[in-house]
Amino acid sequence: MRDGTVRIGILGAGVVGGGLYQILQKNAEHIERVAEVSIEVAAICDVDWERPRDFSVPTALRTTDAYEIINDPDIDIIVETIGGSDVALEYVTAAIRAGKSVVTPNKEMIAHHGNQILPLAAQYGVDIQFEGSVGGVIPVLRSLKESLASAQIDQIIGIVNGTTNYILTEMTEAGAQFTEVLAAARREGYAEADPTADIEGIDAANKLAILAALAFGTRVRVEEIYREGISQITPTDIDYARQMGYVIKLLAIGARNGDQLELRVHPALLPVQHPLAAVRGVFNAIFISGPECGEVMLYGQGAGALPTGTAVAGDVIDCARNIVHDSRGRTPCRCEGEASVRPVGEIETSAYVRMCVADQPGVLGRIATLLGHEGVSIESVIQRPAGNDVADIVWVMHKGPERHLQAALCAIKELDVVEQICSVIRVVDE
Ligand code: HSE
Repeated sequence: MRDGTVRIGILGAGVVGGGLYQILQKNAEHIERVAEVSIEVAAICDVDWERPRDFSVPTALRTTDAYEIINDPDIDIIVETIGGSDVALEYVTAAIRAGKSVVTPNKEMIAHHGNQILPLAAQYGVDIQFEGSVGGVIPVLRSLKESLASAQIDQIIGIVNGTTNYILTEMTEAGAQFTEVLAAARREGYAEADPTADIEGIDAANKLAILAALAFGTRVRVEEIYREGISQITPTDIDYARQMGYVIKLLAIGARNGDQLELRVHPALLPVQHPLAAVRGVFNAIFISGPECGEVMLYGQGAGALPTGTAVAGDVIDCARNIVHDSRGRTPCRCEGEASVRPVGEIETSAYVRMCVADQPGVLGRIATLLGHEGVSIESVIQRPAGNDVADIVWVMHKGPERHLQAALCAIKELDVVEQICSVIRVVDE
């Protein structure tokens, strides 16, 4: 810090970098008061300054060379808003080694490389903050690290991907097919040009890895998170779920189970009374529970320039305060050991199963016998004619080990009267 001003350098003049820049300009006086220091954007790096943007950056602040910023001794904090795990990781590592505090909303990098970056920041006595990496503006990481620091967290359930929540909401409210809504979402700019990471739950798994590490105090390998996306969800399933009092949501679930953690991202039937069921459109929410804190839900915009920019600006202010008070590095990673993750087959779940069968005497009984043989208990069943001597049967099973259901479904699939097992979707009702 020089002349009573903390200087920041922003790497990446995209949506979030731009949101941060605008917030720091617009709310400068207020920010100076709460940060107890003036915060100045000293430079912004981007590889393409010709790209159209809805904010402008004075030419004097622009550079295309990240190392000009990283190696500038007058810059105290580096904000990385490039995204991805390649150059972002290189720059963040270099910034820490140069003695700068780092702020990043980069969920992919933190989820995959946090185990390396956070100890490095502790070694160099600098801060690394990443509130914007999960849930956009929602202050969930700081809540876990600070407000809920004394509490044992038993379970965390998140709607942490706005694109998939928007698609499922539109499918529910307009009765549209997945592909139609996805195409509309891309036209409206809600979905990425390549929406694979969102649709397949990859983005949500990255966010769950970060949430679980903070909630359960242990390192989490993203690769160990069980993951299913939403591309197989149909309006038919959404409609059956509605008739039974459920909505379908893509959930990121982390839970303690003895010495192990259950970590999974998948679509699930959620009772309409659950607070997360009311989270519509691109909004995100995280539901946390534990014996001391009870049930806590945090809700807000999970993406976008100003919401995510607000989370990033909060981290910048925190880093600036630590510079002013000479207390950098006071909140290092406190994760211990590596999580032991329960295999998904061992997890106790309840499931919704829809199958298409021949509408003949004895079919329901034969299927029920196979379920019973594998120890799967039926909670409810609905049968509807589907034309041409075919019927739809929708089962909801009682909670039990997932491997029992999978074994039963393997046997049921082989029955000559079963045309197809159309859908298997877990039910989350605790
Ligand atoms: N692709 C993410 C989403 C953006 O749809 O929620 C925020 O991480």
